[in-house]
Amino acid sequence: MSQILIEANSLSHSFDYPLYSDISLSLDEGQSIAIVGRSGSGKSTLLHTLATFLEPDSGTVKLFGRDIYSLEIDEIELLRRHEIGIIFQTHYLFKGMTGRENINIASLLADEPLDSNLLKQLEIEDVIDQKIGDLSGGQQQRVSIARVLNKQPKIIFADEPTGNLDSETATLVMDVLLDYIEKNTAVLFLVTHDDVIARRCDFHYRLEDQSLIKIK
Ligand SMILES: Nc1ncnc2c1ncn2[C@@H]1O[C@H](COP(=O)(O)OP(=O)(O)O)[C@@H](O)[C@H]1O
Ligand SMILES: [Mg+2]
Repeated sequence: MSQILIEANSLSHSFDYPLYSDISLSLDEGQSIAIVGRSGSGKSTLLHTLATFLEPDSGTVKLFGRDIYSLEIDEIELLRRHEIGIIFQTHYLFKGMTGRENINIASLLADEPLDSNLLKQLEIEDVIDQKIGDLSGGQQQRVSIARVLNKQPKIIFADEPTGNLDSETATLVMDVLLDYIEKNTAVLFLVTHDDVIARRCDFHYRLEDQSLIKIK
């Protein structure tokens, strides 16, 4: 039987104005969801809330069936280290180090050796020993995605992961992410401006008027 990996119930959040109220969602193993919405609608806030980094004003978030905002800090740290992978629009790599060194630093924590297939799939095997500063933006982003997937997390959060990529590279990145979640029975929670990318997920919602409106 498949397991619900992300379950959010009745989440609400406001900063200067209400972002969303009473929204719920759930994702089973192997499923992907894309959230679109205008800038400032609260997409990143929702992602941070689901990803253990920001307690909601109200509502609950369960990852692997566990209510994350009532866990002890060491339990949350274990989840973050081993089970959760986060991909950002900007890659946050160490510029003076090679791609391999960047991936190894993150993977040491999770105790995973470098997966050469992943590098092949992302088409970065030939540049992995070059310094990050010498790579193109698209190559840098693919290294940062390899760094996350190499830890083999069960839950991937991606905040505009293809925002700085040309459409061909964006397609490649989506191919790799969707293949990863299928093979690892993981889940993908994706925030994007790109409807072409969003349509490829199992579920597609728009965050608008404080609600999640179902597109697919
Ligand atoms: N930590 C914070 N403190 C105060 N306001 C914030 C904070 N984070 C985000 N906001 C505000 O909340 C709104 C939604 O931000 P965000 O979730 O980043 O939207 P999106 O990702 O959809 O562009 C924005 O107006 C932003 O300035
Ligand atoms: Mg955002």
